[in-house]
Amino acid sequence: MITVMGATGQVGRQITQRLLEAGEQVRAIGRNPRALAALAAAGAETWAGDAADAEFLARAFRGADAVHTLLPYDPTSADFRAEQQRLGEAIVAAVQGAGVRRVVALSSIGADVPTGTGFIASLHDQEQRLRRLTGVDLLFLRPGVFFESITAAADTARTLGVNADAVAPEVPVPMIATQDVGAAAAAALVARDWRGVQVRELHGPCDLTYTEATSILGAAIDLPGLQYVRLPDAEMADALVQAGFSRDCAELHVEMGRALSDGTITPLAARTPETISPTRFEAIVGDLVQDRAA
Ligand SMILES: NC(=O)c1ccc[n+]([C@@H]2O[C@H](COP(=O)([O-])OP(=O)(O)OC[C@H]3O[C@@H](n4cnc5c(N)ncnc54)[C@H](OP(=O)(O)O)[C@@H]3O)[C@@H](O)[C@H]2O)c1
Repeated sequence: MITVMGATGQVGRQITQRLLEAGEQVRAIGRNPRALAALAAAGAETWAGDAADAEFLARAFRGADAVHTLLPYDPTSADFRAEQQRLGEAIVAAVQGAGVRRVVALSSIGADVPTGTGFIASLHDQEQRLRRLTGVDLLFLRPGVFFESITAAADTARTLGVNADAVAPEVPVPMIATQDVGAAAAAALVARDWRGVQVRELHGPCDLTYTEATSILGAAIDLPGLQYVRLPDAEMADALVQAGFSRDCAELHVEMGRALSDGTITPLAARTPETISPTRFEAIVGDLVQDRAA
């Protein structure tokens, strides 16, 4: 049996579906019972509860041959790093309490860097926390920016006529489809063949600049020639606060943009067939925009 945290999310849904298709028994966890119902219908055992509750998590992890963990992202959090620390400690306590022997942890490119990377620094902290466990085989998956993070800008781009963010326009950035992240995680959870601590970066078929990604998005939303604009940091942070981010999360988003722009966040290793995934942004951008609208 495999326990999947974040099972109703972008990556977790893919993992759950692929594990079920592979004939694995899956315990799917998330907070929203209605969202979990679709996974129950597909054959998963579903548990609704909050990851901040280490006892709930430990019960959900107990008996699992392997677990998938993630640090859920809440852009309204007033103190993001403290919140992530609380969730991260609950996960580590649950892995320990349940005696889990194998963990696939969703992390990110840039998690090797301790500070100055915005949201990603919390994933660095979580990798360190998990590494302190003994007797647990750990696989850290470090994907690039999700294509879904680009398509999330579709509505704003329609309103403003441009796509604005904090990343330099011409810097190639590793980007990937969450379906490919889910496929990589599910394959590892089925194979359960790694030992000790392993780090696997996950790249899409090619890096994209924000200018290139914006052009692909524009073509999909009937705005051909859509331009990308890098806003000054303070202006970008204010725009995010207006859009509902907490001030802390807005500052972290901007810091992450700076770190992607100046090479602080960068792949550690050369691409290999194992780290490159097949899905091109052009191939799925239309579906992602439609899914989001639905
Ligand atoms: N976005 C990117 O470009 C990017 C790039 C690299 C890595 N990442 C990593 O990927 C993670 C996001 O993965 P994703 O896109 O699959 O997430 P997602 O779509 O936002 O889904 C989050 C999942 O976690 C569950 N969840 C949220 N808060 C929870 C809580 N307190 N307790 C229990 N379950 C909770 C959600 O369900 P409920 O809300 O029902 O609980 C949902 O199943 C990020 O946090 C980051 O660490 C992201």
